[in-house]
Amino acid sequence: MSENPFLAGNFGPVDDELTVDSLSVTGEIPKELAGHLLRIGPNPIDPDPKNHHWFLGSGMVHDVHIRDGKALSYRNRYVRDDHVVAAKGWPPVEGPVHEMDLGGGVANTNVISHAGKTFAIVEAGNLPVELDDQLDTVRRSDFDGTLTGGFSAHPHLDPQTGELHAAVYSPAWEHIRHLVVGADGRVQRSVDVPVPGRPMVHDCMFTQNYFILLDLPVILDVGVAEAGFSLPYKWTPDYGARIGLLPRNGEADEVTWHEVEPCFIFHPMNAYEDDRGHVVMDVVRHSKMFDHDMNGPSEGTSSLDRWVIDPTKSQASEHRIDDCSQEFPRFDERRAGQSYRFGYTANIGYDTSLGGIKKHDLEKGTGEVHNEGDERFFLEPVFVPASPDAAEDDGWIMAYVYDRSTNKSDITIFHAQDFSGAPQATIQLPQRVPFGFHGNWVPENH
Ligand SMILES: [Fe+2]
Repeated sequence: MSENPFLAGNFGPVDDELTVDSLSVTGEIPKELAGHLLRIGPNPIDPDPKNHHWFLGSGMVHDVHIRDGKALSYRNRYVRDDHVVAAKGWPPVEGPVHEMDLGGGVANTNVISHAGKTFAIVEAGNLPVELDDQLDTVRRSDFDGTLTGGFSAHPHLDPQTGELHAAVYSPAWEHIRHLVVGADGRVQRSVDVPVPGRPMVHDCMFTQNYFILLDLPVILDVGVAEAGFSLPYKWTPDYGARIGLLPRNGEADEVTWHEVEPCFIFHPMNAYEDDRGHVVMDVVRHSKMFDHDMNGPSEGTSSLDRWVIDPTKSQASEHRIDDCSQEFPRFDERRAGQSYRFGYTANIGYDTSLGGIKKHDLEKGTGEVHNEGDERFFLEPVFVPASPDAAEDDGWIMAYVYDRSTNKSDITIFHAQDFSGAPQATIQLPQRVPFGFHGNWVPENH
């Protein structure tokens, strides 16, 4: 067994790029589903077990194409970067290179569709990598010359405006950038908000009036880099922890800052403004991060918390929603930035082990678990509405699942309103899909 847990078991990379048609299905795939369930994570080539960090290494995308109640195909492909093409003897990747680019064009954290194109994306400096419908790498993209720095692994689409909002950071910057990419795929707003250090900023959220910045105490630390670790960010609680509310069309000097207890947030679930004009933000909260383990997020359990921010007060109020350790929060993204009731998360244990998934009724304060046994590990649950005008929560939960008993993966589909019920369909995949990070449903004709 590898000495690095993030190279062992289903954290480890897979070797082959496969294309397999006509997948075997148990149950019935809902006929209204027509599209691609995309998934991405690191699939490092020749990693050094001593300092391999789970967040690093070349990206690999996985896709299952569904239409007419059939699973038409599975394929997986490297997101080509300088290291992959050198190792495989493939031609170099075309496209711009920025000074901020880290690590030869790696993009391994999320895969999205925007303005009719598919992009593999990552934080901290590298450009998005455009993929074609076959998952083959097209080129690095700077959004038609409009993206002057790096991008983010977690842009969020405002369904009311078609804008993609992102928080961008770089190890070289003492600011966080609010970036808005228009529905035409071009950057239309870029505002730099100064911060006192160089924080890791994995995600963001917005409400009707604000873009929300997370300035939290995981900070660039030169000593960590000098000690030989590959991701030089360290838990620094003295830095403090605060949330910034930037008016969506405002300038940096209009940000108001609101303190929270020191913690780290990779992922908010959603945020909105209540009838008092207070910002309500639900987050998966880690009480610390990268304190003892410099190779992965292994600092204990997390919780689902609600922060309420009165824009006139310097302190946010914090409430625990659920003590159960969880991550990868998703929701019905038609409600992004608006009040909502339901969220979905993956259970994740102390040692970064996955398990079942959970649905949260945030109005009732209740939770419901979907668990298919100790051998089955759910990756991030994706919600797909049953139809464009279906009610919130009326739709399908789709998730890649790793089955330890077969050492392969499958896709489970079930109705969100029958959350603890049996799957509607299970699609068998020809190989395992490493745990990785994020994915999305991309409807046909997107
Ligand atoms: Fe993430």
